[in-house]
Amino acid sequence: MEPIRAAIVGTGNIARIHADSLRGLGDGVRLVGAVDVDVDRLSAFCDRYDVPARHPDLTSLLEKEQPDLVHICTPPGTHHDLALACLEAGSNVLVEKPPALSLAEFDNLIEAERKHGAALATVFQHRFGTGAIRLRAMLDSGVLGRPLLAICHTTWFRNQAYFDVEWRGRWDTEGGGPTMGHGIHQMDLLCAILGDWTEVSAVARQQARRMDTEDLSMAHVSFAGGAAASVVNSMLSIREESYLRFDFERATVELTHLYGYGDDDWRITPAPEFADEVMGAWHSGASGVRSAHRAQFAEVLRSLRTGTPAPVTSTESRRTMQLVAGVYASAFTRSAVRPDELSTDSPFYRKMEGNGPRW
Ligand SMILES: NC(=O)c1ccc[n+]([C@@H]2O[C@H](COP(=O)([O-])OP(=O)(O)OC[C@H]3O[C@@H](n4cnc5c(N)ncnc54)[C@H](O)[C@@H]3O)[C@@H](O)[C@H]2O)c1
Repeated sequence: MEPIRAAIVGTGNIARIHADSLRGLGDGVRLVGAVDVDVDRLSAFCDRYDVPARHPDLTSLLEKEQPDLVHICTPPGTHHDLALACLEAGSNVLVEKPPALSLAEFDNLIEAERKHGAALATVFQHRFGTGAIRLRAMLDSGVLGRPLLAICHTTWFRNQAYFDVEWRGRWDTEGGGPTMGHGIHQMDLLCAILGDWTEVSAVARQQARRMDTEDLSMAHVSFAGGAAASVVNSMLSIREESYLRFDFERATVELTHLYGYGDDDWRITPAPEFADEVMGAWHSGASGVRSAHRAQFAEVLRSLRTGTPAPVTSTESRRTMQLVAGVYASAFTRSAVRPDELSTDSPFYRKMEGNGPRW
């Protein structure tokens, strides 16, 4: 079997995790080329990872290397145009979060996916740890009962210097603050477990950092399955944590970590009368895989080989992007927002900040 030919665009911080993860996946994938507008960074990256072809722009990489899969690891404002160019050239795309700056941009990529027959997947690595896979399977089997309540906290800390980097903290380059850039990971896992959301009420604040976007948002989200969730996205929280809690009829399931979790980061508290059933299901499920890029990449490569949709698919990540848009729409219109209100004629469809933030 020929190895899958992968390429990386943008050779900064996260690209190193991509390259290390690909290396860890063995002979089934080969890193054939890389692109960066910064030639020194590109050169250092290619030397370090033994990448045979270095290109100053994506067009030349697509023409000369014809990769099966392009990893887009550039700042968010560039994702749409780069992903579009790859899809048009027939290369599959794995784009870092957030996959685009707006629902409008994202739908444009979905259209290109359909037109050119290449797949667009988004990096949301926290779906791929075995704890999340086990939880989803237990929910599907009915052993946990109905989901009633969820808590989804991304309480992280970034100082002012972090936001002083040119492309950070701006609507036009990042599409939002911690809701779009950081909490999106936890909100994606929330949606992966609870499914479609039906309404969101939110506030967004500029609490402490000098930046264009929010540095804090808080939301109540209703889900079609009946659960209500409380979501906090903060860059101001000195004791940092990513915390998800699901209260089901038969158990409370908690996940506490920061940037990635293992099996030990989950805590299950069953109702006494269901303890054997719930704990039996938990201990007999998949185990041993941390939530990390490598776990997702393994699934993406498997899907490319078998011709199944590469995860996280555009349909799945659109729902998460739509929740992000809903948080901003609710916060800036000061009203509850349903998904159908974020259709093409909404200003929040075209830009995450709509016609402009209202603090
Ligand atoms: N999944 C995760 O856990 C995770 C973690 C961190 C960052 N990210 C995401 O990864 C992306 C990159 O973040 P980073 O911290 O690595 O940024 P970075 O600034 O360290 O690296 C970005 C690189 O892209 C290059 N670049 C910019 N525009 C380009 C273009 N048009 N063509 C080619 N190269 C270009 C830059 O020169 C730079 O080397 C962001 O979308 C970020 O949100 C994801």
